[in-house]
Amino acid sequence: MDWNQFLFVVFPYISLTLFIAVTIYRVVYRPFTVSSLSSQLLERKQLYWGSIPFHHGVLWILLFHLVALLTPKVLLLWNAVPLRLYLLEISGFILGLWALVGVVFLFWRRLTVPYVKAVTTRIDILVLLLTLISMLTGVLTASLYRFGSVWFTGVFTPYLWSILTLQPCPELVAPLPWLIQLHVFNNFALLALLPFSRLIHILSWPLDYLIRPWQIVIGMRDRKATK
Ligand code: HEM
Repeated sequence: MDWNQFLFVVFPYISLTLFIAVTIYRVVYRPFTVSSLSSQLLERKQLYWGSIPFHHGVLWILLFHLVALLTPKVLLLWNAVPLRLYLLEISGFILGLWALVGVVFLFWRRLTVPYVKAVTTRIDILVLLLTLISMLTGVLTASLYRFGSVWFTGVFTPYLWSILTLQPCPELVAPLPWLIQLHVFNNFALLALLPFSRLIHILSWPLDYLIRPWQIVIGMRDRKATK
């Protein structure tokens, strides 16, 4: 087995297996652990400046990736008009930078705010590190190898489908620059880590995480007793 086989066939399948199996285990047997374990009560100002840019940036970026994967023809039709292509690329770049700024804030907060640092585990640091690498390699790919929204559909749409349909084609990724390969490998690593970490909150339902505060604190005070 060569490196490409390992990195772009074996490793993706290990990640997908861990993701599916451990997620099901956690949701079924440990449902109350499916949470982001908010640290908002410990510090809220830096959390705001990290969490808002990160989530608002990354959700749109993930949506763009999903459109490229599920409906590549729609994306190609959109990109057929140069103005629309530039609009998509520029907005993707701004959103990517926005998410990068957010994750830098979140990382800085974890390392420097004493109360938050005290509850930070090694896996939290690893998740933030991989997320930072993901944002950085994504934004660098977008700036160094222009028009990714076009070539994604020719390279990654068939590659990702080849993995999902159990007919892997690593030869599609093998000739790419190492930066882009790192982006892909790193995102499979994030997928594997998701069910073991606070990232599991992505799967919490309903998805009102997007619009409600990070934490809802419900008081249990007995009003009569404290009158
Ligand atoms: C294995 C799956 C993935 C593949 C094949 C992939 C591929 C790509 C490609 C080709 C680009 C360049 C797009 C462009 O130039 O317009 C890109 C950008 C980016 N990706 Fe991914 N990606 C994957 C998963 C992810 C995930 C899971 C995340 C987030 C956690 C992510 C975050 C980003 C970001 C932030 C950018 C920069 C967007 C921009 O600046 O336009 N990617 N990705």
